[in-house]
Amino acid sequence: VGQTVGMIGGGQLARMTHQAAIALDIKLRVLAAAPADSAAQVTPDAAVGSVDSYEDLAAFAESCDVLTFDHEVIDPAFLAKLHEHGHVLHPAPHANLLAQDKLEQRRRLAAAGLPVPAHRPVEEPADAVAFGEAHGWPLVLKAVRGGYDGRGVWVVDDPDDARRVVHAARADGTRLLAEAHVALDREVAVLVARSPGGAALAYPLIETVQRDGMLHELVVPARVPAPTASAAVALGLAIAEEIDATGVMAAELFVSGGEVSVNELALRPHNSGHWTIEGATTSQFDNHLRAVLGWELGPTTMVAPAAATANIIGPADGSDPRAALPGVSGLEGARVHLYGKQPRPGRKLGHVTVLGEDTEQALERARAVVARVTGDKET
Ligand SMILES: Nc1ncnc2c1ncn2[C@@H]1O[C@H](COP(=O)(O)OP(=O)(O)O)[C@@H](O)[C@H]1O
Ligand SMILES: [Mg+2]
Repeated sequence: VGQTVGMIGGGQLARMTHQAAIALDIKLRVLAAAPADSAAQVTPDAAVGSVDSYEDLAAFAESCDVLTFDHEVIDPAFLAKLHEHGHVLHPAPHANLLAQDKLEQRRRLAAAGLPVPAHRPVEEPADAVAFGEAHGWPLVLKAVRGGYDGRGVWVVDDPDDARRVVHAARADGTRLLAEAHVALDREVAVLVARSPGGAALAYPLIETVQRDGMLHELVVPARVPAPTASAAVALGLAIAEEIDATGVMAAELFVSGGEVSVNELALRPHNSGHWTIEGATTSQFDNHLRAVLGWELGPTTMVAPAAATANIIGPADGSDPRAALPGVSGLEGARVHLYGKQPRPGRKLGHVTVLGEDTEQALERARAVVARVTGDKET
């Protein structure tokens, strides 16, 4: 009893994990980059340090029984060293690597016979051009490590475009991979909670909508034919087993011509799972904590026929959504979550979740609440 879970990173995922920790009386400590970070504002005894410093990581690890992540881009050598020193990490370093290195991830999944888009490493412009000649244009160039919210993804239309992107990436030391541009019917995400003993549960399939490369809205259950949904969920569970994921894992999947393939993996709670706070019997944050502590997992069933989540993005005029909240009451069951971030145009500041009878209606209501909170009259 009374174990301390240490979460590396102090963003909104750690902040929402803390909300779950409070109810279960689990002590959660975060390692944040600054006291103003989303989770550092609200968790007791937050450690402030850099994930680029092994000393900071090691000192933090000493104060925790189990380590897990809000932020996964951490030098794999540091993680291996923490593991060697006897610290318990969930996910383990070998699994974490797959979440932070898109090339390793594709190699590993392809080797296991799991579907991934055609891809190759790009060392020089000619590699990208050759890939385009073989697989057709446009193609997608991606940063192997460190990309998020679409930063690090470039769709290129022709050889000149490809050369330009490769040169620019080489100039700032970014490693690239090339992959086929997939004609998307939809994007979906499978959220799986898996414990160290191997027990795993998947949530109902989530449909995600990205805007400018960033997850913008989601609805559950995903609007795909039942066989596609079961194939996607089975794929998510197969991946979690294959890579020995522990804690919550999200697999972002492409659906194209009814077939599913893997876009990328996250080995931590994921923004596609925020709806589970209100919409599932056990939220992704509850199950992440339960899994990393080796507790029995909670049921992943929905508590309503449909759920939708829409992001609160910082409005162009720089206004603060908190200013609108006092006037936005009786939201027909909509739940607003703000992350404690300084408003900036285009910045992800929070989200709104609505449960309902069907996905369209829930999404419409979530959008309407976002519009009121951001002062945007257009809905
Ligand atoms: N091969 C691809 N074909 C078509 N669209 C893609 C492809 N790769 C990425 N995208 C689009 O770009 C978005 C962001 O790419 P992703 O690899 O998930 O980067 P990030 O790590 O920034 O989330 C995807 O959700 C998808 O909408
Ligand atoms: Mg993504």
